[in-house]
Amino acid sequence: MAADLPNSVKQLSDSGAFSSLPLQLYASRDPTAPSDVDATLEPQIPTIDLSLLTGATPRERARMVQRLGRACQDWGFFMARTFRVVVNHGVPEGLRQAMLEAAKKFFDLEEEDKEELRGETVLDPIRYGTSFNPKAEVGVRYWRDFLKLAVHPDFHSPAKPLCFSDVLRDYATCTRRVGMELLKGIWESLDLEENDMNKALKLDSCFQVFVANLYPPCPQPELVFGLPPHSDLGLLTLLHQNGVDGLDVEHGGKWVHVKPLPGSFLVNAGDHMQIVTNGRYKSTLHRAMANGKSTRVSVLTVVGPSLDTVVEPVAALVSSERPAMYRGWSYRQFLECHQGNQLKEKAVLELLRCRDHEDVI
Ligand code: OGA
Ligand code: NI
Repeated sequence: MAADLPNSVKQLSDSGAFSSLPLQLYASRDPTAPSDVDATLEPQIPTIDLSLLTGATPRERARMVQRLGRACQDWGFFMARTFRVVVNHGVPEGLRQAMLEAAKKFFDLEEEDKEELRGETVLDPIRYGTSFNPKAEVGVRYWRDFLKLAVHPDFHSPAKPLCFSDVLRDYATCTRRVGMELLKGIWESLDLEENDMNKALKLDSCFQVFVANLYPPCPQPELVFGLPPHSDLGLLTLLHQNGVDGLDVEHGGKWVHVKPLPGSFLVNAGDHMQIVTNGRYKSTLHRAMANGKSTRVSVLTVVGPSLDTVVEPVAALVSSERPAMYRGWSYRQFLECHQGNQLKEKAVLELLRCRDHEDVI
């Protein structure tokens, strides 16, 4: 059956040949189920003003750090406003737009050009694909195409489209800087020493991945997921989209539709934040929904430790009352397991949980 399937949902959407498609293969939702979205939660999503973390008085910064800590503890995600940030600390709006446009142009390339980048293993530094991991997805696919690029410590970019690599280089640098500022504030909120954390996670050679997602219009969006509920694997993910909504985030057992504020990134804590903070800050489940009308593009920066770091709960957050909840694994091992299997909630993180902690989280 797989041989008859198109290589990408873009191709499928463009062709309009849905009748020849086993659309059930994409059907992973029950369209008759009652809505699990709580509309009252959306206005409560915490916002962090990056200009008050980087260019502010110590008092303003202390307040923002506290707010950041609360956002990480209570929600695991927040909106980070970067538009007022002083030069060299933010991400210029023009660059954010240029990145989205370059990503769209990439997906508009001929299918053969993209095919060359399909990659063999999940650690290939340039990887184009569809769904999450069709090799591991038995009988189900998700309605998205993706491009994943390792951009730090070594920078990788496709050669086409022509403008892509220059824009990506700047975008990767700027978003990494924002990620590092946020991490600095997060460590501070837990009374952890920045230098110790940089050393423990080898953040100078942090493994940074850039992801572009394309969600073309879907004929039956109520049946499919763009991406099913999952957590991201790194420390932090910074997401930006082309103005078409589709991201839902879980909070207190309910789902929240997220409409990013202008000039903001949606930031969520990843599994490695949960490991390193010994469960104080948790990674958030989120999902991407398809729609019937417009093409949605999202671009993500995932900031993580260096690939060879064995990540464990930091000693300062481990005590006899709160023993270490997770075993150490190298980031590379985690990444291989996360990307090489089906995408399923927090399945990989669960593998690392120490047995006697089943009730703590
Ligand atoms: C992801 C992801 C959400 C989105 O790529 O891990 O969660 O809105 N994407 O594209
Ligand atoms: Ni995600």
